[in-house]
Amino acid sequence: MAADVALSQALAYARDLKNLYEVARAREEDTVRAHDKLRAAYQQSLAYAVDLKKTHRRLQRSILQSLLGLANALEAKDEYTRGHSDRVAALARQLALEAGLTVRQADVIAQSGLLHDLGKIGVPEHILRKPGPLTQEEWTVMRRHPVTGSQIVAPLESFAEGALIVRHHHEREDGSGYPDGLSGETIPLGARVVAVADVYDALTSERPYRRGLTHAEALGRLAAEAGRTLDARLTTLFTDIVAHAPPEWPVRD
Ligand SMILES: [Fe+2]
Repeated sequence: MAADVALSQALAYARDLKNLYEVARAREEDTVRAHDKLRAAYQQSLAYAVDLKKTHRRLQRSILQSLLGLANALEAKDEYTRGHSDRVAALARQLALEAGLTVRQADVIAQSGLLHDLGKIGVPEHILRKPGPLTQEEWTVMRRHPVTGSQIVAPLESFAEGALIVRHHHEREDGSGYPDGLSGETIPLGARVVAVADVYDALTSERPYRRGLTHAEALGRLAAEAGRTLDARLTTLFTDIVAHAPPEWPVRD
């Protein structure tokens, strides 16, 4: 009798154990399924993040392209500045490469060359197109264009270096420039590169109130500015480059 009881108890334990085992196995399977789902969701969100990053980059690129187009359109309205930014960009890119900067840095400098005067969008036309020297007040307005330009490009995080170049392209080696009166190496290198190309192209361009200087005259003026308002090493490098410029280069005879 006692043996029967023991046997039925043992059978009951065995059944309980089996039930427990099945419950545990079912939970384990649930856990594995939940884990798989979680992993799939993680991979999906990773793919979304990559897509989002690509879209963000594409968006930033297309905003930059629109700004480049805008700079071009603004300049094209004025026969005296038409093509100026394109030439500054090409000259600055070449100078950057000769100065030992990377292709990526040279590209940012070239884009900054294209955008350097974009802030002139905020300067009234009667000042911008004035056929003669500006008054003190008009200069004050004109001198705002580097800050305005850098504020326009500021939302482009991928163009942060470019925004600095745009802001500082009128600083001078001796600290007499604007907007911040920076001097020497405190001026971002890209801004010093753009400044040399900008001054050269401005000197060789026709203006309503003066003829453009010849290539030789402009180089003479650059030499006089080297180490005073322009970076001496970059100016020497620039002179070497334009002396050996191929015919398709934006260099005036
Ligand atoms: Fe400028």
